[in-house]
Amino acid sequence: MEFKSKIRTIQWINNVSRMVDQTKFPEEYVYVDIKTGQEMYDAIKTMIVRGAPAIGIAGAHGVVLYAQELQKENLSFEEFKTKLLEKSNYLASSRPTAVNLMWAVEQQKNLIKNSNSDIDALINDLTNQAVRMENEDIEINKAIGRYGAEVVPKGATILTHCNAGALATVGYGTALGVVRSAFANDNTIQVFADETRPRQQGARITTLELTMDGIPTTLITDGMCSYFMKKGMIDMVVVGADRIAANGDTANKIGTYTVAIAAKYHNIPFYIAAPLSTIDTSIKSGTEIPIEERSHDEVTHINGKTICAEGVNIINPGFDVTPHELITGIITEVGILRPDYNSSIQEAFEKKSPIFV
Ligand code: MRU
Repeated sequence: MEFKSKIRTIQWINNVSRMVDQTKFPEEYVYVDIKTGQEMYDAIKTMIVRGAPAIGIAGAHGVVLYAQELQKENLSFEEFKTKLLEKSNYLASSRPTAVNLMWAVEQQKNLIKNSNSDIDALINDLTNQAVRMENEDIEINKAIGRYGAEVVPKGATILTHCNAGALATVGYGTALGVVRSAFANDNTIQVFADETRPRQQGARITTLELTMDGIPTTLITDGMCSYFMKKGMIDMVVVGADRIAANGDTANKIGTYTVAIAAKYHNIPFYIAAPLSTIDTSIKSGTEIPIEERSHDEVTHINGKTICAEGVNIINPGFDVTPHELITGIITEVGILRPDYNSSIQEAFEKKSPIFV
């Protein structure tokens, strides 16, 4: 049975990029139209759109928005291409960790570099490619969901960290895609959602989208996960990923590594759910993954109120890297990859499915 989710996070419509504004959760569920390339850069940076696959699609849309603006500048085709490549690089620099952004912008750059037609035809091609990637993202997530559901025990309680759901993708979700597919077959499963300090994607976003879809969810704070694991209340962990190295080391939201260590200690399976576009085979291990350092206000303040002594030292990395030894499997659109990840990742790329470009 297929699960129907109502959520569509981002969509190319009437020559603009329409997205759910995720800075407004949980008070408001509103859409915003992003009309220029600079607005897209800001939307990614300020996390109006967030989650690795969603910001990949946002990047692809952003290149089209820049192309539409440059079209009005009366440039030669070569000047147009040069300027558009510069703008594309700028867009790709809006957030450093999630490789899907660089991956999607790279697909657009390849079209630009290889085009020898004219500006109108190139814009048409860029738009078509962005829309195709958008639609494929949902199909990829459904495939991830189908494979992942096979390893969800009957009546399982699944712990997740951050938000790797419909709202982190175009729709359906990666980790929460597994939850949705499993729930379609067995409505006795449930989710424990880590709050996910400091930006609370678990509390603000995961609980919102699972509740919208009627999936039973319990919110816990980040420090509680090992307590519930010890009590035997967690059957498996499924989280998303922002970048996976060739050896399987995986960057995901800060705090994921702690959950993985706790799961290993308690003998609980720990799965990553991610599309192949999140795997960066150009890097050998997680030590090479750039980790975004975010604003100190996210740690020092909650809802505009200071929660610590003034002048205290702050460090705020947005992501951490879970070593491959702690990962039971990586659920992708071509199946579940198992250790040794160097070989299984290489094989996955060799047999990549027709829905993956
Ligand atoms: O900072 P965010 O909210 O963009 O971080 C999101 C995550 O870490 C997700 O788990 C990851 O991008 C996977 S989304 C399918």
